[in-house]
Amino acid sequence: MPVRMAVPKEIVSGERRVALDPTMAERFAKLGVEILLEKGAGLSAFFPDEAYGKSSRLVDGAQALYTEADVVFKVQAPTLEEVELLRDGSTLLAVLLPHRNVEMVKRLRDKKITSFAMELIPRISRAQSMDVLSSQAAVSGYKVALLAANLASGFFPMLTTAAGTIRPSKVVIVGAGVAGLQAIATCRRLGAMVEAYDVRPAARQEIESLGGKMIDTGVSAASEGGYARELTAEEKQKQADVLARHIAAANAVITTAAVPGRPAPKIVTAAMVEGMKRGAVIVDLAAESGGNCELTRPGETVEHNGVIIAGPLNIPSSFPVPASEMYAKNLFNFLSPMIKDGNLNLDWNDEVIAKSALTRDGKIVHEPTSKLV
Ligand code: NAI
Repeated sequence: MPVRMAVPKEIVSGERRVALDPTMAERFAKLGVEILLEKGAGLSAFFPDEAYGKSSRLVDGAQALYTEADVVFKVQAPTLEEVELLRDGSTLLAVLLPHRNVEMVKRLRDKKITSFAMELIPRISRAQSMDVLSSQAAVSGYKVALLAANLASGFFPMLTTAAGTIRPSKVVIVGAGVAGLQAIATCRRLGAMVEAYDVRPAARQEIESLGGKMIDTGVSAASEGGYARELTAEEKQKQADVLARHIAAANAVITTAAVPGRPAPKIVTAAMVEGMKRGAVIVDLAAESGGNCELTRPGETVEHNGVIIAGPLNIPSSFPVPASEMYAKNLFNFLSPMIKDGNLNLDWNDEVIAKSALTRDGKIVHEPTSKLV
């Protein structure tokens, strides 16, 4: 019997994405698997049930769906109620964030679920096409630039009009990872002058290739796997002094700096905000993990001394069509090499599979999570 892969409706408040879009559902179906779709699962991402066509079988309600499912595709980690609905021994793929969901991890273990935390996929070249952190960060970076342009008190581009010439906005982008680089590209397309800063030295070339200018603070924090390490107190001060000058001159500041598994580094202090121009704007993409600006209130837009500070949450959900399509493609690239004649055979010798697994055979196989639990 072919493996049954199920797509439930996301139930976390405000989540508009769906784990599988119609195109990827069809591509999975072509491999001989059966796709089960909870009625209305794609609606909030603008994919009506009909769009999935014959390749997917519609199922009424989550309970019925989970009862039949061998493999479940989700975006958000399941709630404890959803975990109870999962069939013992089935397989789950989602962004599981185990450090925030310890009870969920324990239940997945006890129910002998094979769970894959998509955010744990190792960042090696071969796995780039499966990397949900990158795909969703690209969406966020684009959106956050538009948000900054929208909240800004002036034009991003230089405008030459009969009423005079208007200077372009100065945008400072802090953190030039996947989201930051996409924000640089988008702000440049809108005509702004862009300066960017990252602790990874490799970021310089990436920033410059997109037409941005690297802010040089003389601090480097390169670490393993392409991520940043935490900075020492002295390094932080040096970084702060240089950044404060650039931020004071900016019309918009976009912050995207993150250190995986830790609260976001506080880079823009209250004093720096107070040094900014009235009408300037800060959009803090790191709001999700506490924010890069001391004055960010996650999920809110506030004003301080005439400076607008926005801390938007779950940005990919606000752009659900491309975010869902890219996420679904990541899932397909991850699982499809192990599907033969409609059957799924997980290759545990594959480092991508082994390293992204969270629970398996009644055990927590991701070591940091195992220690935490
Ligand atoms: P992230 O979301 O964890 O962090 C965003 C950025 O913030 C990073 O560039 C980081 O260096 C920077 N940052 C951290 N602390 C900072 C501080 N105190 N001040 C200024 N900046 C700070 O990272 P993301 O975007 O997920 O990936 C970072 C990099 O990893 C990418 O640019 C790339 O080079 C590498 N990568 C490699 C992949 C691969 O498959 N080989 C896939 C994806 C990313």
